[in-house]
Amino acid sequence: MIPRMFICLLVSLATICDVWSEPFRQSLDGRWRLWNSNRSLALPARVPGCVHSALTQRGFIQDPYFRFNDLAHQWISLDNWTYVTTFAVSDRLRSAQKVLLILDGVDTAASVWLNGVLVGHADNMFRQYVFPVRELLEEEEEENVLRVDLLSPVLYANERRKAHWAYRVPPECPPDVQKGQCHVNFIRKEQSSFSWDWGPSFPTMGLWKGVRLEAFDAMRLVRFSAVPLRNASLSRWTVRVELLVEALRPARVDVTLAVPELSSQLTVTSQFLPGTTRHVFTLHVNTSSQVRLWWPSGLGERPSYRLLVTASSQDGLPLLHTESKVYFRTVDLVQEPIADSPGLSFYFRVNGRPVFLKGSNWIPAHAFQDQVTPDALKNLLQSAVDANMNALRVWGGGVYEQDVFYSMCDEMGLMVWQDFMFACATYPTDDDFINTVREEVIQQVWRLKSHPSVIVWSANNENEAALAGDWFHIPPSQRPTYLKDYVTLYVDNIRALVKEEDPSRPFLVSSPTNGAKSEQEGYVAGDPYDPHYGDTHFYSYLHDCWHWSTFPRTRFASEYGFQSWPSFSTLQPVSVPEDWSYSSSFSAHRQHHQDGNQQMLQQAAIHFHLPNSTDPLRRFKDTLYLTQVMQAQCVKTQTDFYRRSRSEIIDGKGHTMGALYWQLNDVWQAPSWSSIEFGGKWKMLHYFAQDFFADVLPVSFEDSDMLLIYAVSDLSGDIKVRAVVSVYTWSDADPVCTLKSQLLPVPGGSAVPVFKQPVAALLAGCGHCTRLTCLLSFRLEDGGGRQQGPSNHHFLCSPKDAQGLRRPNITAKVQESSEGLLVRLHSSAIAPFVWLDAGSLPGRFSSNGFLMLSRDKPVVFQPWRPTSVAELTTSLTITSLSDVYWP
Ligand SMILES: *[C@@H]1O[C@H](CO)[C@@H](O)[C@H](O)[C@H]1NC(C)=O
Ligand SMILES: *[C@@H]1O[C@H](CO)[C@@H](O)[C@H](O)[C@H]1NC(C)=O
Ligand SMILES: *[C@@H]1O[C@H](CO)[C@@H](O)[C@H](O)[C@H]1NC(C)=O
Ligand SMILES: *[C@@H]1O[C@H](CO)[C@@H](O)[C@H](O)[C@H]1NC(C)=O
Ligand SMILES: *[C@@H]1O[C@H](CO)[C@@H](O)[C@H](O)[C@H]1NC(C)=O
Repeated sequence: MIPRMFICLLVSLATICDVWSEPFRQSLDGRWRLWNSNRSLALPARVPGCVHSALTQRGFIQDPYFRFNDLAHQWISLDNWTYVTTFAVSDRLRSAQKVLLILDGVDTAASVWLNGVLVGHADNMFRQYVFPVRELLEEEEEENVLRVDLLSPVLYANERRKAHWAYRVPPECPPDVQKGQCHVNFIRKEQSSFSWDWGPSFPTMGLWKGVRLEAFDAMRLVRFSAVPLRNASLSRWTVRVELLVEALRPARVDVTLAVPELSSQLTVTSQFLPGTTRHVFTLHVNTSSQVRLWWPSGLGERPSYRLLVTASSQDGLPLLHTESKVYFRTVDLVQEPIADSPGLSFYFRVNGRPVFLKGSNWIPAHAFQDQVTPDALKNLLQSAVDANMNALRVWGGGVYEQDVFYSMCDEMGLMVWQDFMFACATYPTDDDFINTVREEVIQQVWRLKSHPSVIVWSANNENEAALAGDWFHIPPSQRPTYLKDYVTLYVDNIRALVKEEDPSRPFLVSSPTNGAKSEQEGYVAGDPYDPHYGDTHFYSYLHDCWHWSTFPRTRFASEYGFQSWPSFSTLQPVSVPEDWSYSSSFSAHRQHHQDGNQQMLQQAAIHFHLPNSTDPLRRFKDTLYLTQVMQAQCVKTQTDFYRRSRSEIIDGKGHTMGALYWQLNDVWQAPSWSSIEFGGKWKMLHYFAQDFFADVLPVSFEDSDMLLIYAVSDLSGDIKVRAVVSVYTWSDADPVCTLKSQLLPVPGGSAVPVFKQPVAALLAGCGHCTRLTCLLSFRLEDGGGRQQGPSNHHFLCSPKDAQGLRRPNITAKVQESSEGLLVRLHSSAIAPFVWLDAGSLPGRFSSNGFLMLSRDKPVVFQPWRPTSVAELTTSLTITSLSDVYWP
């Protein structure tokens, strides 16, 4: 009797355990050897891992993120590298009917050799590769040699480009300011690894996911998915379970599916044929059971149910036993005519309820994916939820994220807009390319479709816009070729495959897109940015961002943003003192967006005095701070505008139902559009997001000198609120007067005007106020006088023109408290944009970057490691706006 063993593997969202009559897996992860083509370098290297990480860990190169090392380390990805491991296999594994070598992630162009025999090639970072190897394995105790030869991705992309002689596939190269490599669109690899406008060029090479042997005698589970579907007409749930099984001989198998908590079970006898076959089962959820739904963050709970799947032979021998989590929810993308507006709506409905998507865009969390830990992901995703986000767009120039990313999104209620990994380029459509993409799409859709967090697939980032706007200067005579390639790749292949593999959620061909309208226009609309249809991306760095009228009143804002610099404590470990000025070559080097550093100052100068300290280091730090103030205030203004536009149609535009700013996270320490710095520190923008994404929010704006305040509510139920407006002079921390509006109903999921008054009348009725001497703070209050949502503020002039603003003397006392370290702030005057910086102490504040209108304010610092009162007291610096020009 062979002892039974449980072997667990991570498949999609849950641990799945298979029971087999013998052991069948052997991990080949761990310590391998690595060398370059002429063997001048040879070193141990971890798998999963990459060449850059191995060279860094072994001290062969200095930290790739330090100063200009992205340039200094360019040689690495111009060389070819070889990974080698040796291993012995047990007799039992050797004697199995079939043994497979499985590589979960090869980055990227590679040939794989076992004991000197070529077993296959890899050309796509986003695919798993499986090679049968039983005949090649040595006897027990003998050593097997597994070798993976990696070709320079830069060279490979160039070679593919040269082979594509008939016409060019632009862009050939990134802009010079990105200091990147060319032809990344010819290689199925993280597109931003050849550089981006926020990231360095580190064309990685390696085995970035696990490697193992899998041996079996009868059958194995290749893939598994469980997708709940709701039959609307019958008001019933089913779970569509798919098994992809590789069997060696025909077998009659009893398959049992059960969701015990819902008293639902199904047993079917299936014929498993030899080869790899798909088996689809429909489990009807017992109608007498109450199914509890999965809701996005802020809208409800996320209960999961255990699904058990077993397969056994006719004589009762267990063959398979897998288990996963199932969450029930529906999602639709609604594109239908709207009264008083040309065009179509564009919003998501979850469980039948329209949901405003609040969030941002996700980019790779590190240039070296092997260094992205579950803790780092968790910290970023928790930061998103804590800033009241309910959605993230996994952007198409990065990677399909790790399984744990999606399981965390499931648990936290973060909806995922999932792009396929194509961005800002045209792509080839030769057979090799299409075939590898098809396999990539099938594998990724299978891997992710059981996750309720994934609410939409989108085939590419900005490639419709690139053709429509002729970014690549394609001669008119050649345009049909590119349009045809576009449709071939994204429609005839990707869309067709996704429709077949996952009809359970909506599919978009691009972003931005006009959606249904783009499809009517042959998939490339005349203007994919048309605010009457679909989603838009919008950037404008030099227009005054405080003017809401410069923003498109779009149906859905899937990208918008402004750059800022990370804090000094983030830059310090990768720089030296000579770098610490805004005009240093380091500052220029880390900026990958043309004129970006200048644009930040120009935008900031519209409303603020620029730092002018005579102490250069102080001026540098003040400038970093001011770019964050500018970014936070710009993105806040724009987001406030989108949120208050959800219920209105003005000049045919509006019903905005999404605000995903660009971008959540950073890939390295550099200026970018992110709200979280590399390492996890929140920028001022992220603290602002906590407020501007709150479920209930007061928003102000001026329309021809009329001050309006809207109450925005994402709640399920209706509320009744009034606006409370307090008028302050810049010189005093006590309001000069306070106005209250009538109590008004605000239905769940709406934006309603609750206050309207001409600014002139408001000021005239309030002492000696003028636009220059006064500012407004406002909040919402319910009938019982309880505040609903955060307070907000409205400047009546640029802070640089404010009269009476004094330099506040802000002092802080730190003490222990039950929630963390309590910082008691005291200010002698009104202070705008008060910024607490704990330096290199990891953690975050309960609130930051705020307008300090009271003399005292408590703020809690939650450290991410044990931190004493003394440490925080020493590290803490406090800056407010006037500090930067009254030193
Ligand atoms: C071997 O390759 C390294 C890295 O590409 C290069 O710097 C070195 O000059 C080469 N050595 C010889 C002897 O060719
Ligand atoms: C890498 O391999 C390719 C293909 O074999 C070869 O053309 C190229 O010269 C190699 N590069 C180096 C640095 O050896
Ligand atoms: C549905 O659930 C009820 C109560 O748990 C149970 O008695 C019944 O057998 C179930 N029906 C089916 C079809 O499983
Ligand atoms: C700032 O406030 C502290 C504490 O209130 C006080 O001791 C100090 O003298 C003040 N400094 C200035 C420059 O006013
Ligand atoms: C810095 O700028 C402020 C505001 O424009 C001005 O009042 C101050 O005199 C300037 N200081 C220096 C040292 O130039």
